[in-house]
Amino acid sequence: MRRLRLGVLVSGAGTNLQALIDACRSGEPAAEVVVVVSNVPGAFALERARRDDIQAVVVNHRDFPTKAAFEAVLQETLESFRVGLVCLAGFLRILSPEFVRAFDGRIMNIHPALLPSFGGKGMYGEHVHRAVMASGARVSGCTVHFVTEVPDGGPIILQTAVPVRDDDTPVTLAARIRREEHRLYPMAVRLFAEDRLRIEGNRVRILPQIPPSSHAPAPVHPATARTK
Ligand code: GRF
Repeated sequence: MRRLRLGVLVSGAGTNLQALIDACRSGEPAAEVVVVVSNVPGAFALERARRDDIQAVVVNHRDFPTKAAFEAVLQETLESFRVGLVCLAGFLRILSPEFVRAFDGRIMNIHPALLPSFGGKGMYGEHVHRAVMASGARVSGCTVHFVTEVPDGGPIILQTAVPVRDDDTPVTLAARIRREEHRLYPMAVRLFAEDRLRIEGNRVRILPQIPPSSHAPAPVHPATARTK
């Protein structure tokens, strides 16, 4: 089977990137990270990519006069690596509708809360966990979703919930969620690689796994086999 080519966009530590790299290396999903692009030159995620012999590219938004010029280079870079799926993994720039359209249905994001709550502008990092705790919610979690032009508003692929404990701090809650993120993102990529995700409006239908035996040609009984 041909492996899905992943381009991962990052801005920070890259623990989700690492989870994707490790999962791909283990063969599940049938995918490979072919390029990691960061808009932050010093992001540790770049180091993770280099350590694993993966192309690490910096496209610093500060070097461009406009968002369109920045995104044009981002797009060019991803296209030059022929990526089949773009994974946002702690990428702290909001992508324009034009960019999203260029990779329509082929961009995923992971968010450290249960969308559609606690998402959108300003909801990143500790801000999310602080908002969850201030709301009194008893559960939080993480969400992998397709990216549309509405920040954090695209069709939800997978979610996992975790408890919010009375003695939690944003740091302890983030750590509990982070562990789930590392499981969930590779699972979502696997479903995509197996072509099992169908976007229907704002919902995603997950098709059942096709058992490997049904890929094989039907056996032909010698008595019924025809020759020309
Ligand atoms: C994660 O919490 C992810 O949900 C959010 O950004 C964070 C990235 O963390 N989008 P890391 O860089 O993968 O460690």
